[in-house]
Parts: sequence; structure tokens; C-alpha cells
Amino acid sequence: MTITANWSYPTAIKFGAGRIKELADHCKAVGMKKPLLVTDRGLAPMAITQNALAILEAAGLGRAIFADVDPNPNDANLEAGVKAFKDGGHDGVVAFGGGSGLDLGKAIAFMVGQTRPVWDFEDIGDWWTRASVEGIAPIVAVPTTAGTGSEVGRASVITNSQTHTKKVIFHPKFLPAVTICDPELTVGMPKVITAGTGMDAFAHCLEAYCSPFYHPMSQGIALEGMRLVKEYLPRAYRDGADIEARANMMSAAAMGAVAFQKGLGAIHSLSHPVGAIYNTHHGMTNAVVMPPVLRFNRPAIEGKIAAAAAYLGISGGFDGFYDYVLELRSELGVPDKLAALGVGTDRIDEMAAMAIVDPTAGGNPVELTLTSAKTLFAACI
Ligand SMILES: [Fe+2]
Repeated sequence: MTITANWSYPTAIKFGAGRIKELADHCKAVGMKKPLLVTDRGLAPMAITQNALAILEAAGLGRAIFADVDPNPNDANLEAGVKAFKDGGHDGVVAFGGGSGLDLGKAIAFMVGQTRPVWDFEDIGDWWTRASVEGIAPIVAVPTTAGTGSEVGRASVITNSQTHTKKVIFHPKFLPAVTICDPELTVGMPKVITAGTGMDAFAHCLEAYCSPFYHPMSQGIALEGMRLVKEYLPRAYRDGADIEARANMMSAAAMGAVAFQKGLGAIHSLSHPVGAIYNTHHGMTNAVVMPPVLRFNRPAIEGKIAAAAAYLGISGGFDGFYDYVLELRSELGVPDKLAALGVGTDRIDEMAAMAIVDPTAGGNPVELTLTSAKTLFAACI
């Protein structure tokens, strides 16, 4: 089965196996003559990245790459990337990779046009209106995992290397002009990354679906996104070359990011401090903390989850859904506790204090207090 389509929601999406070959055309269409491809260190030497550079070079766009990007991209990576962009005389960014490459690439394209520090554009109130729009470079995004959904998002998560906190940086111009979703690029993903990124997509859909805010469009997208994960993540995990499964996971990832305009919740509020302090994989961390957060939220979401379970073909209402999450985790080799990811109990107080002020905490259906955050961390570790 071939899945190929052009969508204009929420941006121009060129979806289909093999469509990376159109990369240079889309760069040219948005005005790039000398793009900078931004990706992470691990991806830089890989064949999919070298092929993308070859496509750009063959079209006369050069083959410039910036790959000094940490798994949780930080302000130092951003500063170095902006310098590379300016020194190289570039005029656009190809944001290439998983969450790290995409988030940093988008942030570089934005910051090359700014004079204020990046923290002035944190996603608070109308801070984004402080930005100078003229100098922002165009972005073509190319996801190589299926989880973050950053390829359709208007924000990047950047870690402050001084305070070890993750900040959401927001501007409407972070939304890539064009996104190429080519599921063939995800075929080589190791099983553990397929599992972690897939569970991140699931967490986005689940938390958006459960958030108390009124956003029926996101609600519908979140529900169908969960269904795609249920049907296709185990398949993609078992057989990485299953293109139909990879394609549907790529859709689920984009849908999760569209849906979480409605809000995220405590899965992410707990996961962000853990990632910032212990550098754990974001999606895998979400998967570990998911069951305790579901139990914590149960009084507020029991009916909603029962409705989702019915749509997903899961019997037993909330309990059936909860058991399904446990089964999915074990099928994907997700550890039961954060201790298995190297997280200790010695920094619970600090992480709890960070969790309750995380921007996602406000979307949790049950209020996350310092006491409840500590109890949740203890249960997760
Ligand atoms: Fe996430």
C-alpha cells in the first residue's frame, strides 16, 4: 500500500515514501539559495543525512551542515548554530532529524533575526510579539523519527545550560514553511528509539485529549492519533521496514503535535525535569511515568478515557485502557520505573519544584501540587 499526499494543515506537508528527493525543490520554492542543514551529531554521518546533503548539492544549493547539537539542545548549541549560519552566509535552514535537530534548526532560523536573548521569547503571554520578524530565515523541516511532531509545531524546547531547565520558545514563524514527511527516513531507527518516540506521540495525543481546555478540533485529532499508535506502533517496532506502519506513525506524530495546542499535562511536567537533570530520552521517560499519572488523574478523566477506550476497541473502560497502556509498554520494552533510566530519589524535591512550574502543568486535569508531584516522582522512580 502506498500512502502519498500533499496537505496544507497546519503547514504544507509533502507526505510519502521517497519524497526526500524533492528537498531541493522545496528549499528553492521558499527562496533558499544556500541552506544550512541542522541535525544532531549522531545523525550527521548517517546515509539518510549524507543523501539529503547530496540532493542539495546536486541542485546547486551547497552541502553545508551544522551538527553540534546535544540530545537535549541547549543555548550553547543555539549560539554556535547562529554563528555558523551567519559566518556561512546562509539564507535558510533545513531542520533535519528527531526532536533535537528539528527544535534547534527552527530556533536557529528564528534567532538569526533577533537581537534580544532567546529567553525573552519564552512561551509566556505575548512575549513572542517582542520578536523582529523581518530577519527570520525560512525553514524546511524533515523529520527522521515519528514522535516529537516538532515538524508541525510553532515552538522549540531549549535547555538553559545554566539552570538546567527546559524552556519552551514560541513564535508563529517557528512553523516550517514546508515539511517533508518521508517514512523511509525512519526505517533505520533503532527499536528503542522507535519505542520512545512512538510513546512520545502517544503521550501528546493522550494528554491533549485529557486536558480540560475547550478545543474540539484537537480533541478529535488526538483520538485518531491514539488509534494510529495502537494499530501501527507495535508493527513498526516489530518490523522497522514496514513502510505502512512507519507512515502511519509519522502521521500520528504530526497529529500529536497539532493536538497539543489544547494542552499537555503531568506526564510532560514530570518528564521535563527528569530529562533536564538526567538527560534521559524524552519519549521513553514519558512512557515510564504514564501509568502513575493516569492513576493520579483518574477522578477527572475516567469518563473521557472510557469513551476513548470504546473508540480504540478496548473493553473495560478506564481499567481496560490502563491495562492496555501497561501491555503496550511491556511489548515495546519500556522499563517500569525511572530507576532503570538512572534516576535516583535524591533529587525528588528539586524535580517536584520544577514540575509544578513547568508550562505543561497547567493543562493537567488534576491540579499538580508540590506534595502530589513528590508522591508521583516517588511512585515513578
Ligand atoms: Fe513530548
